[in-house]
Amino acid sequence: MSKLKELDKKYIWHPFDQMKGADIIPIVKGEGSYVFDEDGKKYIDGFSSWWVNTHGHAHPYIAKKLSDQASTLEHVAFGGFTHPSAVRLSERLVNILPQKIEKVFFSDNGSTANEVALKMSIQYWFNKGEKRNRFISLKGDYHGDTFGSMSLTARGGFNEPFERFMFDVDFIDIPTEENRIELLTQFELLLKTNDIAAFIFEPIVQGAGGMIMHSPEVLSELIGLCNQYGVIAISDEVFTGFGRTGKMFAIDHCENKPDIVCLSKGITGGFMAMGITAVSDKIYQAFYSDDKGKTFLHGHSYTGNALACSVANASLDLFEKEDVWQNIDSISKMQSEFVRLIAAHSGVRAARSFGTIAAVELESDGVSSYFNSKGKEVYKFLLEKGIILRPLGNVIVLIPPYCITRKDLNYLHNSIEEYLVTQ
Ligand SMILES: Cc1ncc(COP(=O)(O)O)c(C=O)c1O
Repeated sequence: MSKLKELDKKYIWHPFDQMKGADIIPIVKGEGSYVFDEDGKKYIDGFSSWWVNTHGHAHPYIAKKLSDQASTLEHVAFGGFTHPSAVRLSERLVNILPQKIEKVFFSDNGSTANEVALKMSIQYWFNKGEKRNRFISLKGDYHGDTFGSMSLTARGGFNEPFERFMFDVDFIDIPTEENRIELLTQFELLLKTNDIAAFIFEPIVQGAGGMIMHSPEVLSELIGLCNQYGVIAISDEVFTGFGRTGKMFAIDHCENKPDIVCLSKGITGGFMAMGITAVSDKIYQAFYSDDKGKTFLHGHSYTGNALACSVANASLDLFEKEDVWQNIDSISKMQSEFVRLIAAHSGVRAARSFGTIAAVELESDGVSSYFNSKGKEVYKFLLEKGIILRPLGNVIVLIPPYCITRKDLNYLHNSIEEYLVTQ
């Protein structure tokens, strides 16, 4: 075992893995769509390092902007103060988000972006003098690991030990053309109770639940009903934001727009932690008052961090400057063709893609779930071939950085086919 591995094992508790038997790989360098281990072995980052990386590792333009910001202003308290990078970023986000979104609230990660949306929704009704007790979410949704976000997440293995401490949520079926009428009727009945504070959803692609994909049209109708009944609709774009679905935001595929959009992951190109809860004027106005009691008393020490804002701006520059949209288009086409071909394989239970996101659900004993051990096998196989991915149980997910070459994406696809031949 290398010294680095030894010290890691001695001092670090890693997320989401059982530490007993864990084999943690030290990575010492990143460049474009590759990362390198301490022996110099190169790996294609096929999952954009937990879906955060958009333009590639150590992108020189983003790195330069980060360094410039670090030597100008690294951070200033965001309570009572502001800075140029935050103002510039906020203006740009408001310009690219749906038209009704007018203000942005900063935090540090995807869970906190949703936690903020949840607290804003509760206080929105409180400030309006109305008691609303319930939330709606989609079956299979994942919204994060803080208590509120976890409560909005589908129940199951992730949050089982905490279940009795979580609040109740109405989990509805994912919207499909087949269940459309039934779902819309059931949804409207829930809204008519006047007890629903908000409806939160992962738009079109439910990531952590296994890349489950649903109908943008029916989702849009659900949002339309929320708008009709004055219920807050929250689009959790933590994963789907910044081009993953082929458009800047997944909600751009829907006609009706939510009151709140939550962002994180790809917002900084994968460089720094940042969460955004972007809201419509309707939400903002419920807090804007001479009454101090209506203030949103929430914030984190690193809120609006200048380094994070500078890299988020740099990432947006690249969306404007480089051939990013062309790459997104070409990745999307290749992924769609790949899943079409692989779906027929006997070792494949299902295969699907939407935009740059592709998922291959492997046949295995037992139901498809995060705890299905099949993924560990494919993880090891691909690692040998110089590819890093993190399957969700028996679901292989391919979410490459947008700078991946056609050759490398082909290699990734071929390697999965090779794995299937061994089955
Ligand atoms: C849709 C969605 N929401 C929220 C989160 C939580 O984000 P974070 O891990 O940054 O807290 C994730 C993370 O995977 C996610 O996919």
